[in-house]
Amino acid sequence: MSKNRVRHHVNPLSDQSEYSFGGFGNDKPIIVDIGADRGEFSQGLMEIFGDSHNFLILEIRRPLALRLEKKFAEKSNVRVFSGDAVRNLRSLLSPAISDDGALIDTIYINFPDPWFKDRHHKRRVVCQRLLDDVTHWIQKQTIWVYQTDQKQLFEDTRNLLKENGISEIEYFDKSPYDLQTKWEQAKVCAGQEIYRMQFHLGDNQSKDQ
Ligand SMILES: C[S@@+](CC[C@H](N)C(=O)[O-])C[C@H]1O[C@@H](n2cnc3c(N)ncnc32)[C@H](O)[C@@H]1O
Repeated sequence: MSKNRVRHHVNPLSDQSEYSFGGFGNDKPIIVDIGADRGEFSQGLMEIFGDSHNFLILEIRRPLALRLEKKFAEKSNVRVFSGDAVRNLRSLLSPAISDDGALIDTIYINFPDPWFKDRHHKRRVVCQRLLDDVTHWIQKQTIWVYQTDQKQLFEDTRNLLKENGISEIEYFDKSPYDLQTKWEQAKVCAGQEIYRMQFHLGDNQSKDQ
C-alpha cells in the first residue's frame, strides 16, 4: 500500500452478513481474534499452542478475510469469517459452548478501529451493542484482551465497561506472549504508548457494582 493512501474503515453497521457455525466438533478451548487484519497475532498463537486450541478469526474487510482463509486453509483447527464480529459473535460461538462443551478461552481485540466521533462510537467493537448481546451467554471464564494505542478510545471503553458493571479490569504492560504485530511495532516505533487491559464478561456482572 502506498504511504499516502487513505485507509478507510468499513462501517460495521453496514455489513449485515450473518453466519452460523456448528462449532469445531470437539471441546478444545477456542481462541478468538477480532479484527485480525493479516492474522499475525493468531499465527503467533498457533505456533505456541499447536493443535491444542481451535481458532476463530473475524475480519470485516473481505479482501483481508479472503487472504486469511488462504493463509490458514490447511489448518483444520482454524475458521475465518468475514463480517462484523459484533453481529456474528453469538451465532458463531454459542453452539461451540452448548453443543461441543468448549471453553471460549480468550477473545483478543487488538488495535480496534477507533471511530473518534461521538456519533460513530456505536461502530466500535466494544460498544453497548456488544455488551448487550454477549453478557447472557458468554462464559464468565472467558478472558477478553483489549489493546490499543488510542488513549481516548481506551478510556471510553474502560468507562463503558464500568457503566455495565464490569469493574474487575486488569492492566498489563506487554503484549501477550510477546507477540507484536507490524501494526503494534509501527506504533511503538512512532513512540506511542500502548494501553492494555483484560476483563471478563458474563451474567455475573451487575450494573450497580
Ligand atoms: C487496526 S487493525 C488491527 C489489526 C490487528 N488486530 C493487529 O493488532 O495488528 C483493525 C482491524 O479490525 C478490523 N475490523 C474493524 N471492525 C471490525 C468488526 N466490527 N468486525 C471484524 N473486524 C473488524 C479492520 O478491518 C482491521 O483489519
